[in-house]
Amino acid sequence: MKKPKVFVSRLLPDEALEHLRASCEVEVNGADRTLTPVELKKRLDGSAGLVSLLTDAVGDDVLATPGLKCVSNVAVGHNNVDVAAATRRKVLVTNTPGVLTETTADFAWALMMAAARRIPEADRYTRRGLYQGWDIMSMLGVDVHNKTLGLVGFGRIGVAMAQRAKGFGMRVLYSDVKRAPEDLESAVSARHATLSSLLSQSDFVSVHVPLSPETRHLIGAKELGEMKRTAVLINTARGAVIDEAALVAALRKGTIFAAGLDVYENEPDMAPGLAELDNVVLAPHIASASSATRTRMAMIAASDMVAALEGRRPSHLVNPEALG
Ligand code: GLV
Repeated sequence: MKKPKVFVSRLLPDEALEHLRASCEVEVNGADRTLTPVELKKRLDGSAGLVSLLTDAVGDDVLATPGLKCVSNVAVGHNNVDVAAATRRKVLVTNTPGVLTETTADFAWALMMAAARRIPEADRYTRRGLYQGWDIMSMLGVDVHNKTLGLVGFGRIGVAMAQRAKGFGMRVLYSDVKRAPEDLESAVSARHATLSSLLSQSDFVSVHVPLSPETRHLIGAKELGEMKRTAVLINTARGAVIDEAALVAALRKGTIFAAGLDVYENEPDMAPGLAELDNVVLAPHIASASSATRTRMAMIAASDMVAALEGRRPSHLVNPEALG
């Protein structure tokens, strides 16, 4: 029997490609860049499957490819895929939750520590040869231990942050559209709060919500103004959850102490002025980037693609309605 064709939008770890090749005819975009939707649609021609990355814009046009059955997005977030259009067209969409939870929480924690204790700024200073001897007033940061951590979003990664906070003796607040079960709240010692009350009480605010029309600019000038002047804001979710221009203004004015960002509103671009600020730690969307985790993500996407094309239910199906 002829193997179904799968198009892979960017090079993946070998293991995942081998898994796909065992049952599919695989074509990989060899170019070291993201394809435009027009290029993607052209390359997809005749494919039953698309393995996409979060940088691919998978809109209705791409999803309209005749014979397309499944889009496996190698990411937990799937805001780059028009899931409603996929469901209408009976195209299955899968993602890669779970495997990246702890790795992402580790990185959010690292950003928090780095921003609080000004580690990248101190590194730049030391490398430049500016260190002239111990100074009691130099590079003063804010403490993390025994402070209040506010988690905006209390899904898997939010909960993993709360677990880490225990070791630092922190009080944990969370805001979420859904209140967590009481046993989970008490297991990780987290208390539900409104966003506004969380912002005004927290020393660290870490964002862990998916991007949706409801969460776009959830944190804007008003919300930044509600935070403590000593607070640190961390974002490892999606850039557009924060109004980046408003954040630049707040960091400049000292409305908050610092920020740590792994994601941006218009990646790979950054808001004007952001990169010139010393009180922000910047990373290039690498929160899940340990080699083990990135390989696991690619393997999940590959297995789910194979399952979908063999008529089995993928293990991480975003739109089960498309099966009906
Ligand atoms: C990374 O941002 C992901 O959604 O997996």
